[in-house]
Amino acid sequence: MKQSKLDKLLLRMTQEEKLAQVFQLAACCYEEDFVPDFTGPMRDIQVDDTLKKTAGTVIGILEPEQMLRLQKLCASGPNRIPALFMLDVIHGFKTIFPIPLGLASSWDPELMRRTCRIAAREARASGIHATFAPMVDLVRDPRWGRVMESTGEDPYLNSVFAKAAVKGFQGNGVGEKDSLASCVKHLAAYGAAEAGREYNTVDMSRGMLRDMYLDSYRAAVEAGCRLVMTAFNTVERVPATCNKWLLETVLRKEWGFDGVVITDWNSMNELIAHSVAEDGGEAARKALEAGVDIDMMSGHYLFDLGGEIEKDSALQPLLDQAVMRILKLKNEMGLFEDPSRGTDPELARSLCSSEEHRLTALEAAQRSMVLLKNEEILPLKQGCKLTVAGTMAGQRDLLGGWSIMGNPEDGISLIDALKAGGAALSIPGTGWTDKEEVCRLAKQSEVTLLACGEPAEETAEANSKTALRLKAPDMELLRALKAQGSRVVLLVFSGRALVLSDAEPLCSAILQAWFPGTEAGHAIADILFGIEQPEGKLTVSFPYAEGQLPIYYNCFRTGRPKLPEKAGDKYVSHYTDCPNEPLYPFGFGLSYTSYEYSALKLSGSILRPSETLEVRVRVKNTGARAGTEIVQMYVWDTCGSIVRPVKQLRGFTSLKLHPGEEKEAVFTLTEEDLMFWDNEECRKAEPGRFIVMAGPDSQRLLEQEFYFSLT
Ligand code: GLC
Repeated sequence: MKQSKLDKLLLRMTQEEKLAQVFQLAACCYEEDFVPDFTGPMRDIQVDDTLKKTAGTVIGILEPEQMLRLQKLCASGPNRIPALFMLDVIHGFKTIFPIPLGLASSWDPELMRRTCRIAAREARASGIHATFAPMVDLVRDPRWGRVMESTGEDPYLNSVFAKAAVKGFQGNGVGEKDSLASCVKHLAAYGAAEAGREYNTVDMSRGMLRDMYLDSYRAAVEAGCRLVMTAFNTVERVPATCNKWLLETVLRKEWGFDGVVITDWNSMNELIAHSVAEDGGEAARKALEAGVDIDMMSGHYLFDLGGEIEKDSALQPLLDQAVMRILKLKNEMGLFEDPSRGTDPELARSLCSSEEHRLTALEAAQRSMVLLKNEEILPLKQGCKLTVAGTMAGQRDLLGGWSIMGNPEDGISLIDALKAGGAALSIPGTGWTDKEEVCRLAKQSEVTLLACGEPAEETAEANSKTALRLKAPDMELLRALKAQGSRVVLLVFSGRALVLSDAEPLCSAILQAWFPGTEAGHAIADILFGIEQPEGKLTVSFPYAEGQLPIYYNCFRTGRPKLPEKAGDKYVSHYTDCPNEPLYPFGFGLSYTSYEYSALKLSGSILRPSETLEVRVRVKNTGARAGTEIVQMYVWDTCGSIVRPVKQLRGFTSLKLHPGEEKEAVFTLTEEDLMFWDNEECRKAEPGRFIVMAGPDSQRLLEQEFYFSLT
């Protein structure tokens, strides 16, 4: 439909229709026997036929056939405006991939794109038009349960994955029948909730916000995402949902975003709890003035905005602007010409959990796993006598949080996978954590596999924790097994970096499996028996202790850095009861082979604007098995006008190496890689001495210096 037709449509719309267009209704409201059981103003909602026909967007999912019937109803409204159906398709639709924190451990943006592309095809054929993903919040604190939805603690890596996810969801553009409009979230800095406590205050300098937290949202916008979701939290003491600086100055004017801004669930109503709005009318007005286009489930746009506009007609153009943005998105997706465009129940049935999609899920699950320790016990031999125990051994749901449409039964269980993998299994018939029985069986086995961590329901939203250690039954088993000399492989399922420092000395190997998704069973067996080797690397730091949190690699040096050469110094920045460093650092991961790094070389010693500096490092496979090594490159600005992180990831690549083979990893540095935001909101690179580093993780690095000069 031409813009002129959209303009005429807007003119024809009544105020009631406009207020319904900027409102999002839950799919369950369309069910025959629906009874409102929402919190907040929505509890009073009267879902009559008019509202069903005029609600602009719908959240939730019904069966494809129901979506088709619903869309016909929506498109039969006074102006026949189709609805936009939206859902949290975070790491897969029916075929579930590893949680984003796991997938990110592959350090492969192309894999991220591929999995999002599959999710889009399955979801769109099932009737969904837009997904509330990718979540690109930077997270430095695993006490926050939603770290599982993120790709970790690094702004550069998060930006790379953000772009890849948007490209995957939207494919060749939202006009395509297999595209899923991407809604990046949660603008901004939701992952910086104080003390990792869910929905808690976020407060930081604008410089830190710009330098560390905003890059990944901007990357998603630059990749063409069509929606942005506001965060629950405050930004500079103003809730994101009514933060005009964030939504207008940064998002619209600086980044040029022209899509749709939607609140998070009921976050408009939360402006009252935040104490920046007296009532729903003020909340609606403040959100509209800040630039919010869709109200997700608070009802204040539907119930209260009309009254605010009667009091102040200057708000009307803002409402019209919000409505037009939504109409434009629907128009871009071709929904005016064909409201059911892309919805195809037959195609959905053939795509969802198809063999082809499950093969990608298997690959993604294998590549998401991170080997944290291995004292020559993995891979297991075929026919290995294996005792399996632990609180997670019998866990059937290894899909992880935000796997709304996934079915754990689609995959095989860990036990079935181990049997299929060729293990001679001993299973404690009296319970997975029956210490006496497990120890008895372990004495007759070569290896004990202790499946531990946290169940999926203890992760994701509203699941902040202060204690991150393994469950007591698992630790008791571990101590008893160690005491009797049994060799233990720790298989950790979690949606976050747990504290493994108590467990580490008691086991011979640790495999961090995250939540691997539909193909979890097969992938774990393939890795344990060496059919595939673990090659993932961490994108979050694993702490020694909760007391270190937040912990992250790209920290500042402080005025009293703890220096190796002055280990005994008391008056330096340190703890008396714990190291400063994490147990496992950002970028760390082992494999079944080994690598040696050497000969870090630069193509010159001075970098100037508009020039490039080539960085080369040699990597040799010194093990007996071929493998793919993720090589990382970091930069340190050794002296600036403001303090600068001790290192920042600025490049990574993968090298496939046969045993004994040596190759060079090559990176290119430009002025862009040296830039940062200062305290005057200026982004720049400053002349001076820099150190470039390259290695297998953020701690084991070769170094070389160079200078950046403006002349
Ligand atoms: C939730 C989450 C958000 C999600 C939305 C819709 O509260 O914060 O990430 O997309 O509601 O389910």
